[in-house]
Amino acid sequence: MDKKLVVGNWKMNLLREEALELSGAIVSLLGEDYDACQVVLVPPYTVLDVVGRRISGSNIDLGAQNVFGRISGAFTGEISAPMLLDAGCNWVIIGHSERRHILGETDEQIREKLLLSISCGLKIILCVGETEVQREEAIRGSEDISARKELLFSPTKTQIENALHDLDEERISDIVIAYEPVWAIGTGKNATSSEIAEVHGYIRELLTEMFPGLGGSVKVLYGGSVKTGNIEKIMSVDEVGGVLVGGASLSADSFFRIIKSVGG
Ligand code: PGA
Repeated sequence: MDKKLVVGNWKMNLLREEALELSGAIVSLLGEDYDACQVVLVPPYTVLDVVGRRISGSNIDLGAQNVFGRISGAFTGEISAPMLLDAGCNWVIIGHSERRHILGETDEQIREKLLLSISCGLKIILCVGETEVQREEAIRGSEDISARKELLFSPTKTQIENALHDLDEERISDIVIAYEPVWAIGTGKNATSSEIAEVHGYIRELLTEMFPGLGGSVKVLYGGSVKTGNIEKIMSVDEVGGVLVGGASLSADSFFRIIKSVGG
């Protein structure tokens, strides 16, 4: 996974016609052969098939926004990893903050989803990040820089450790981490370059500690109000391996411009 990654998370938006139009426009703007960076479209379940067909033949991948932690069975309303593969997905987002904070998903559920999805052959985008309250508490909590950092990194540390502990090191190459400070998602607020660099650097250290062989090579994305106006700045941070884009991925023009800024 050497190429940078640009993921468009459409969240709970777009009906079939709109999804077809948006995915078609992205393929046309990029061209079917575009491979300067890896692009992944992550539409809602109901249009996975429509979007999958529209992007087939291009280098764009298809992902899902969530998955359930069991293979099959009496789980009304849930969707399993084999179903996602069958629908043409090769990626899945797990642990998005909207699922953690609005839908009450726990670290245990996230781990279950992650382990099962990997064993089924999906690639994972694992979302982590602190809330605004957690960041403010860390800043107010201590004068001492290293204590402040420890507090600041602690939610991200817990989320990563709970999701990935004891994972077979070989599997880590199927995982991408998306650092998304919750206070920056859909708010128009952005982490500064130095805030991004600080947390990305920490994530890299933690992964290297947990997986001494391959942890250092895991891609770490940034997400949270990524737009055409801030993409250059975000990508200028060395540690950033790509972006997870929400709102700005719903416009073909802005998503295309973001992709071109990342991949050229
Ligand atoms: P946003 O969403 O770009 O609209 O802030 C990002 C995300 O939730 O992944």
